Amino acid sequence: MGDSLKRAAAAAAVELVRDGMLLGLGTGSTADHALELLGERVADGLAITGVPTSERTAARARELGIPLRPFEPGMRLDLAIDGADEVSPQLELIKGLGGALLREKRVESCAEQLVIIIDDSKLVARLGRGPLPVEVAPAEADATLVVLRALGCEAELRQAAGTVFVTDNGNWIAHLRFARGIPEPTALDARLQALPGVIDTGLFLGMADIVYSAGPAGVQRLRRAP
Ligand code: A5P
Repeated sequence: MGDSLKRAAAAAAVELVRDGMLLGLGTGSTADHALELLGERVADGLAITGVPTSERTAARARELGIPLRPFEPGMRLDLAIDGADEVSPQLELIKGLGGALLREKRVESCAEQLVIIIDDSKLVARLGRGPLPVEVAPAEADATLVVLRALGCEAELRQAAGTVFVTDNGNWIAHLRFARGIPEPTALDARLQALPGVIDTGLFLGMADIVYSAGPAGVQRLRRAP
């Protein structure tokens, strides 16, 4: 069920892709569906260039025959398509539980339009139902965790295969859990970004233009209020 919903949301987003586009390619299980559908359209003659948000996505896109360009700061992308972990009613997002948040934010903030694809289990009344990923510098990460916990949350380093998870950029990820969620995402993001040791956060605020949310009744299109 979950997988067919992800596929349905991905299909709605891929319909927006046109010949000649420079396209941000997201990371995660939902974004993988979009990649597969794009791969089919490329095989049928669609001419696009993708900018991947992770090594994993780059590898998958190559397998599918999608032409790629590496990200360069300042580049303009026509569209980016990606999944999310949580989506609020204002289309604020938590992203990064797949471990790719910094590159995702860099690429997607250069896109004319960011389209998010989710199954409707990701819709939340308030962000912070699950953990908030925050990319941190490995140097003195213990000190960073102490400072993060002082914000009133639990903070643990993400683990993988019994050791600390390392991002594509060579950093670590702290997962923050707030007992009552995140009532003021903008204020929290500003506090986090100001902390030494914090590289970026999984709060994607004011970035998503459209969200395709798939549920049993079909795909709903949500637009951010201007
Ligand atoms: C990758 O780090 C994330 O930002 C993903 O976009 C997010 O975790 C959603 O992933 P799924 O589509 O696998 O749920």
